[in-house]
Amino acid sequence: MFITFEGPEGSGKSTQIRLLADYLRLNGYRVDTLREPGGTSIGDQIRGVLHDTANTDMVPMTEVMLYSASRAQLVAACIRPALSEGRIVLCDRFADSTLAYQGYGRGLDMGVLATLTAFATGSLRPDLTILLDMDVRHGLSRRRDEGQEMNRLDLEAVSFHERVREGYHVLAAADPTRWVTLDADQPVSSVAADVRSTVLERLGRTSL
Ligand code: TMP
Repeated sequence: MFITFEGPEGSGKSTQIRLLADYLRLNGYRVDTLREPGGTSIGDQIRGVLHDTANTDMVPMTEVMLYSASRAQLVAACIRPALSEGRIVLCDRFADSTLAYQGYGRGLDMGVLATLTAFATGSLRPDLTILLDMDVRHGLSRRRDEGQEMNRLDLEAVSFHERVREGYHVLAAADPTRWVTLDADQPVSSVAADVRSTVLERLGRTSL
């Protein structure tokens, strides 16, 4: 099963993935956790270029192709092999981030992005996408307060992040069987309980 986590900056995706992975592993599931951009040696090098705050002159086309290149590597080297072994793959962002950030955020053509994304992934789609939704100002300040890395995209205007969040809402509404939207503006343990019950339901279990 391929599960992706999406959401604005500071919505707690990496914490929730770690908690879910621990829970599933304790219950005997074989789980891989990955992130985008990155997750492979080549992808991590691309991540460095994408997130370097010195790269202020990067044009949106370069940006989207770098994200797609990192994704192509991750799909071929990690995600498909893990899925074919029956493992659960939890991925921190995937193709929907490109639609939200480069499409709704930057205004690139959605049709082109859909084609590029399908090319990079071989049309691989998640079985479940969890949107950790929260106020963008709160997310950005949470990230700053926790002293986390502020990357090139974090430094965009709040209006950019608002467009990204709205974009996520549109994407989630268009495909309600794949997407589940959770309120991430709650204590970590409450969000973790919501994530667990969402995933258990997809696994066809009520409890483990
Ligand atoms: P994060 O790993 O801290 O979430 O940072 C990833 C950043 O990259 C975040 O600002 C979202 C952005 N991003 C895109 O703009 N497009 C993409 O396709 C992906 C995967 C991430």
